[in-house]
Amino acid sequence: MTASKGRYLRERLAGGDIVRAAGAHDGMSARLVERCGFDAVWASGFELSTSFAVPDASILTMSEFLAAARTMHEAVSIPVIADCDTGFGDSLNVAYMARRYEAAGIAAVCIEDKVFPKRNSFAGARHELEPVDVFQEKIATAKASQRDGNLLVFARTESLIAGQGVAEALQRAASYAEAGADAILVHSRARTPCELFAFTDSWDRPTPVVAIPTSYYDVTAEELASHGVRVVIYANQAMRAGVRAMTETLREIRESGTSASVEARIAPMTELFAIQGLDHTVTALPGTGANGERTWQLAAGQAGSRP
Ligand code: SPV
Ligand code: MG
Repeated sequence: MTASKGRYLRERLAGGDIVRAAGAHDGMSARLVERCGFDAVWASGFELSTSFAVPDASILTMSEFLAAARTMHEAVSIPVIADCDTGFGDSLNVAYMARRYEAAGIAAVCIEDKVFPKRNSFAGARHELEPVDVFQEKIATAKASQRDGNLLVFARTESLIAGQGVAEALQRAASYAEAGADAILVHSRARTPCELFAFTDSWDRPTPVVAIPTSYYDVTAEELASHGVRVVIYANQAMRAGVRAMTETLREIRESGTSASVEARIAPMTELFAIQGLDHTVTALPGTGANGERTWQLAAGQAGSRP
């Protein structure tokens, strides 16, 4: 599954089980998402920004987002849904973005209707939205710019984040579906899924709905599915777990002067070799043929017994 990841995701959106995606920002985190049985990787701008130690506020460039998405795509066999913020500018930037992401084999790009430069949806209170027709143009441009039509375009409305209410979210989502969006992501930072469900329960179009239950974390995937949500994205929990675990480990080593006490709870080197794919990497080993000539034999890598 490579060039066809977009087609596969399109089929999954059309029916069957809810699609479960989880956030990642590099090859390792994407591979962990796949190894844990998720259906798709969410190439998260928030995670990527955090990994660069810069604000999730349109600081990183499209090239940096694309390089990370490509690394993730190449590390896994499941589709990558790439968070592309506002599309990195206006429609001209979106056209370039769509062509580059399609050429990289990315299954889906997700653009949001905030004004560039954006702030993370959980940061601050002011979130300015683009006029509807401006964002419609971005969606239509992303669809029209691609060559083979396999790149899905997720349109994300921040109406609820901006405090503009469910009716506005429904109206914007309908306009985005009309402009050709393959899915509608409705983001909410409420503590419960009530406003999301007010949206989904009134949504009567075939365009699938995507949710990110970061703040309303009690909700189950089954509950989301029963309200018509087709994709659930656990956008940043793995990175938050990693930050906590790394901090505690480093602090303990620094304070105790040895890594002995953390050894039992950290991943052994062999687990990292497995993530690297060392055992599956094919290398050519030299040998000697019947007439003394040098031969080459393909062999899988060996992780060995080092710690
Ligand atoms: C991301 O993971 O970058 C997202 C989701 O866009 S959120 O951080 O909730 O805005
Ligand atoms: Mg983001």
